[in-house]
Amino acid sequence: MSYSYQIKTQAEYDAAWKKSTENPGQFWAEIAAQFYWRKKWDIALDWNFAEPHVRWFLGGKLNITENCLDRHLADKANQPAIIWEPNNPEEAHRVLTYKQLHDKVCQFAHVLRNNGVKKGDRVCIYMGMIPELAVAVLACARVGAIHSVIFGGFSAQSIADRLIDAQAEFIITCDGAYRGAKDIPLKGVIDDALIGCRFVKKVIVFTRTRTPVSMIKGRDVWWEDEIRKVETQGLHEFEAEEMNSEDPLFILYTSGSTGKPKGVVHACAGYMIYTNYTFVNVFQYKPGDVHFCTADVGWITGHSYIVYGPLSAGATSLMFEGVPTWPDAGRFWEIVEKYKVNVLYTAPTAIRSLMGFGTGPIEGRDLSSLRVLGTVGEPINEEAWQWYFKHIGKEKCPIVDTWWQTETGGILISNLAGVTPAKAAFATLPLPGVDPVLVDENGKIIEGNNVSGNLCIRQPWPSIIRTTWGDHERCRVNYFATYPNLYFTGDGALRDENGMYRITGRVDDVLNVSGHRIGTAEVENALNMHAGVVESAVVGYPHDIKGQGIYAYIVYTGEHETEENLTRQDILQTVTRVIGAIAKPDKIQFVSGLPKTRSGKIMRRILRKIAEGELENIGDTSTLLDPAVVEEIKNGKL
Ligand code: WT7
Repeated sequence: MSYSYQIKTQAEYDAAWKKSTENPGQFWAEIAAQFYWRKKWDIALDWNFAEPHVRWFLGGKLNITENCLDRHLADKANQPAIIWEPNNPEEAHRVLTYKQLHDKVCQFAHVLRNNGVKKGDRVCIYMGMIPELAVAVLACARVGAIHSVIFGGFSAQSIADRLIDAQAEFIITCDGAYRGAKDIPLKGVIDDALIGCRFVKKVIVFTRTRTPVSMIKGRDVWWEDEIRKVETQGLHEFEAEEMNSEDPLFILYTSGSTGKPKGVVHACAGYMIYTNYTFVNVFQYKPGDVHFCTADVGWITGHSYIVYGPLSAGATSLMFEGVPTWPDAGRFWEIVEKYKVNVLYTAPTAIRSLMGFGTGPIEGRDLSSLRVLGTVGEPINEEAWQWYFKHIGKEKCPIVDTWWQTETGGILISNLAGVTPAKAAFATLPLPGVDPVLVDENGKIIEGNNVSGNLCIRQPWPSIIRTTWGDHERCRVNYFATYPNLYFTGDGALRDENGMYRITGRVDDVLNVSGHRIGTAEVENALNMHAGVVESAVVGYPHDIKGQGIYAYIVYTGEHETEENLTRQDILQTVTRVIGAIAKPDKIQFVSGLPKTRSGKIMRRILRKIAEGELENIGDTSTLLDPAVVEEIKNGKL
């Protein structure tokens, strides 16, 4: 299948962008018409950002899996849909053709139905990066259940919070997961999470690691047993549930500036169309492409550019279970060579970490299949960009620096590979349908070029966040209330002399650690749960590999019974328990007090400066309750 909406020239891009902003409904309707609908929509777009209320393709009926699977069976039945590379290079890889993936999804959809899952039910998926994760996601979509994938690094407590928020009664998990040298006992973590979640009815467990697990009678069932039942019942094809365009497809939890992660809700039709469109255009998809997105399906990047984008386009999606540096730092290059990867989409943190190993691991590897390189998740520094361009792309592959968010569903600002110009460390230009603006603190739109400000978007694109699960007001306050009639991204950006955007980072209390979003308030809540912690303040600081590191200032009660480092270990253990290892502070400084204003507000600006090492340039401290504390903190900087 080739796509008439694939943009091939700068002129086509200019025309598409113009048309899309003049009449978004019409623009997207023409693209939507090329998908498979059970019933065509009546109204392409109905919106206002005040409530917010955004509805795309109202009245339309479809199932996303018929677009990702069934419609490819005519001409791609035997083409690989998913190629899976295991964590351990010694283990055999797996290939699932479109036909095989379709059959597995149908089979597992029957399993879900047999276990009582119905349209609209929330299903939590907590699995490692194996093909069955994609099968589970798609089977939920096929039965019309709302999936909520939780990254395998989150703790039992984090899972419980998410299960409660979504009232998810069903869980799909594995006995364990392999990640590098680690073996993560997923089912054990789920068991801990479920102690306080008695509303969960069924847990379906896939066997991956053969780690011993405890199976609770009546609640826990094995994936493999359930598949055998479906086979015995003689069930094959699963008639996809007919969904309304605006029915929720999934919830994905993400961090914000408060202590509680929010459930971002995406809708069936708009999400499908936008992830497909951006996949086809940004990466300049060619039939037969092997697309290697190194993200985990637990994050939005994996949802959009491992599962739904590539599969809706009929591409071959490569899924990798492991990590870039195990058993050695040549893992990505070995995979590129082995499967003749055409598109490699990864994160700046991975590039920086691999850069640290030099070019040794690349030598002797045939990377000539690569046509396009991509990055996502955080600003990429010029040095990493150049290294990626030179050593991986051999100066022949365009790099797409794709800026977007969990809330945006798909890529909003990026060059189109080889079609629109790239610029190191710049996401460059908005996709068609995306109308970015920069505003100052007062919400005044900053016109012209060579300016910077807070990044907002002026009109809806099809995969914009619809609501935050169970709390629409939170969605309004978070994204649509700061600046009236604009979607506020939380990012700062600058626009250069040619109108190209460079994203400079978050302007709120959200950290970006190795491309993962972590709220400072969340980390503080976790730290404060430790019995000895009286008070804490968390800020980010520049980190060579992770982009940002987590710096925690802690007021600790009494003396440290043994040495300070043991106390630190205990505190880190608490964070691992409460959130997960990804939120562990890189540095913990014990302080006798925090810099506060007379009204008791913590002056984070000062703490940020100290963490960044800008000791001379702290700024005005005259409004502090106790300016002396700043000197103490400066002297104790780690
Ligand atoms: C935040 C969104 C979108 C998938 C991965 C992260 C930062 C993302 C870029 C980029 C500079 C970027 C932003 C954004 N970000 N991509 N190309 N250049 N910054 O999704 O967890 O929702 O985080 O990641 O700060 O707001 P997320």
